[in-house]
Amino acid sequence: MKTLPSLTRLLWIAASVSLFGLAACVEDDDGLGTEPDRDIAFLGYSDPDTRQTTCGNCHISKQRSWQRTGHAGAWADLQASGQAQSSCNRCHTTNGSSNLAPDTAGFFSVSAGGQRFYYDVQCESCHGPGAQHVTAPDESQPLSTMKAAVGLEIGCGTCHTGTHTPFVEEWQESGHGTALATPASRAECAGCHEGRTVLARFDPDSRFLEQNESTLYGITCAVCHDPHGTRNNAELRYPIDTPDIETNLCMQCHQKRSNPDPTTSRGAHSPQGPMLLGTAGWRPSTFTYDTSLILSSHGSALNPRLCAGCHVDAFTVNDAATGNFVFHSTGHRFRAIPCVDAQGVPTTSDDCAVSSRTFRACATSGCHATQAVARGAFQVLDTRLTSYLDVLWKDNNGNRVRDAGDTGLLMQVPASEFTVNATITVAEGALFNTTMISSTLAASNDGSHGVHNPFYAEALLLASISEMRTRYGLTVPPALAGRVAARRAALGMDP
Ligand code: HEC
Ligand code: HEC
Ligand code: HEC
Ligand code: HEC
Ligand code: HEC
Ligand code: HEC
Ligand code: HEC
Ligand code: HEC
Repeated sequence: MKTLPSLTRLLWIAASVSLFGLAACVEDDDGLGTEPDRDIAFLGYSDPDTRQTTCGNCHISKQRSWQRTGHAGAWADLQASGQAQSSCNRCHTTNGSSNLAPDTAGFFSVSAGGQRFYYDVQCESCHGPGAQHVTAPDESQPLSTMKAAVGLEIGCGTCHTGTHTPFVEEWQESGHGTALATPASRAECAGCHEGRTVLARFDPDSRFLEQNESTLYGITCAVCHDPHGTRNNAELRYPIDTPDIETNLCMQCHQKRSNPDPTTSRGAHSPQGPMLLGTAGWRPSTFTYDTSLILSSHGSALNPRLCAGCHVDAFTVNDAATGNFVFHSTGHRFRAIPCVDAQGVPTTSDDCAVSSRTFRACATSGCHATQAVARGAFQVLDTRLTSYLDVLWKDNNGNRVRDAGDTGLLMQVPASEFTVNATITVAEGALFNTTMISSTLAASNDGSHGVHNPFYAEALLLASISEMRTRYGLTVPPALAGRVAARRAALGMDP
């Protein structure tokens, strides 16, 4: 709730308090003729038939949007599954298992007649019991938690867990699951690197338990998902299908530095968004390119979920022989081509051979005929880009510093070409493109081996090579020069 007009607020408080206060004497038409038993701490629904939560009588807009979420249908879906049993109720009703109350409260503390007041994942599933709050509403209680995984005691992770829904387990293994201490604790970095700070950026009105703690949080569930509902799929705070840096969820953060900055010698920093959109990198004034290739196929309508189309891919692994369920991946490790074991279950390693990775996201999307085709395309692209990168800078001792023993065009220009001043020289621009696209030459890079925008990545490197040759009068082996010319023509670049 942002701010209710004060009169309305008072009226609602009066209405709700009297409603709650009188509840004990009102005849309820549940057919039993007596008022069903209610928990003393959890309020639950004030009207189970319309899914009107007691909290929502005052917090009207939260009620309206929550009612459209999957949480409001959790009980009905459980019954419809035909598999309902008592072990399921913990996560499909309102009780104390996901908040700071004892888990025997709420749904579990009332007789059968009262249980329908506690169906579904209501406000108090996350916020905890609210009886005290409604008698004296103030800003302090009952606050929810944005913790997902800490001890698995409270928060989203208590339900979104286990073999069938291991969101929290997979998320914990992802980069989003932990905060890198240095950037998370620095004010100028925390807006992308620390959960509480990001939440305040995405929703300045947000209020939660950890708000004033000094602990650093990663990018937790509630940073990306608004538990009260949004108009986006999966209650995401921003859409994932807009090819637009301003509105796309992932691009709220994956876009720090994607063009050379005259005030620093630093290279790219999380340039994935602009790479996908074809705006990243140094483009020399002579840069020409077939603009129909700019969004490539990966950033176009052919891949409507954009980043998530490759990086948030949920799938189930069944045993090849028996067909029995083995594992469900929620896609919340955010890996596009995760390492998998012989059965196809993702492993925690991120460092395996291309042949041990699944390319299923590329094939199930319908974009590539089979996983093998996608894997082949990945290898061809990687080999091609590596050959250009080696021409620009081959870091022979692998120390990420341009030093004696390294080879390439960037080694053949004077150090004065790399001075930080208002001018971006050809060498600086070419260096920026090289370290952005290479997955090894700098700590921070695009990291996709060119996949985020294959043709565009290639065009940036080809332009860098050509400009280095003309600007500094450098030569490359004739065989390579021929290949560069052919690829430039293929990409619609001027000869
Ligand atoms: C009788 C009306 C009423 C009911 C019922 C009610 N609240 Fe509130 N709630 C308020 C008022 C008034 C505030 C103070 C808001 C303010 O000053 O901005 C408040 C504040 C809050 C806050 C603090 C956040 C903020 O904006 O300051 C949370 C969280 C909250 N309520 C959750 C709940 C939950 C969960 C329930 C159900 C258990 C609930 N409320 C039921 C009236 C109510
Ligand atoms: C540990 C908590 C937990 C338990 C216990 C649990 N569920 Fe769920 N269930 C969830 C979560 C979380 C989801 C949402 C998962 C998602 O969106 O991928 C879910 C989703 C579902 C859905 C799908 C709803 C839909 O249509 O999208 C069904 C059906 C379901 N559960 C049935 C059951 C049954 C039957 C049991 C008991 C045998 C059970 N659940 C026990 C947490 C739980
Ligand atoms: C609130 C900012 C933010 C948002 C929104 C965000 N990310 Fe991230 N992402 C990060 C940060 C920060 C890291 C680096 C974390 C680290 O290394 O500790 C990261 C790391 C990653 C990684 C590296 C893999 C890993 O596990 O280390 C991938 C892939 C990724 N994000 C994909 C996505 C996708 C896809 C989306 C949208 C669905 C997204 N991110 C949304 C901030 C964000
Ligand atoms: C799935 C868990 C969950 C459910 C269900 C839920 N909330 Fe929340 N609520 C949170 C979290 C987490 C926050 C803090 C982060 C945020 O703002 O989303 C929060 C914040 C709030 C706030 C503080 C203002 C704000 O926007 O941060 C209010 C008020 C509130 N919730 C009321 C409600 C009401 C009323 C309902 C039921 C109609 C409800 N919540 C259902 C988890 C939940
Ligand atoms: C970096 C952003 C991000 C974070 C952090 C994140 N999610 Fe998601 N989540 C997504 C995206 C993107 C989707 C896919 C939405 C789509 O396909 O439209 C998704 C989908 C889901 C779904 C729906 C899956 C289905 O079956 O439809 C659930 C449930 C979910 N997330 C729960 C969680 C939980 C629980 C956490 C914390 C442990 C979490 N998410 C953390 C981005 C995020
Ligand atoms: C009490 C258990 C419980 C808690 C706590 C809980 N969830 Fe859920 N969640 C469920 C169940 C059960 C479903 C499946 C509902 C259905 O579709 O039937 C679900 C579904 C979802 C979905 C997919 C449905 C939709 O509306 O798009 C998202 C996203 C989601 N939860 C996010 C969260 C986040 C974020 C939190 C923490 C702020 C959270 N959940 C806390 C049990 C829980
Ligand atoms: C066409 C599929 C595809 C799309 C779309 C895509 N990526 Fe990637 N991304 C990849 C592949 C493949 C890799 C290389 C993964 C590897 O080497 O393990 C990768 C690597 C990354 C990495 C480096 C860390 C890692 O996982 O190895 C980050 C961060 C990342 N992508 C974020 C994003 C973001 C943010 C978006 C949207 C702006 C996005 N990606 C769009 C396929 C894609
Ligand atoms: C606009 C959002 C944003 C800001 C601001 C930001 N970062 Fe990042 N940073 C990211 C994202 C997203 C990733 C993960 C993607 C990747 O690794 O390419 C990341 C990755 C990192 C990494 C891990 C990868 C690497 O380079 O080794 C470090 C370290 C880092 N950032 C440090 C910082 C520091 C220090 C600051 C502040 C001076 C900062 N970041 C500011 C978005 C941001």
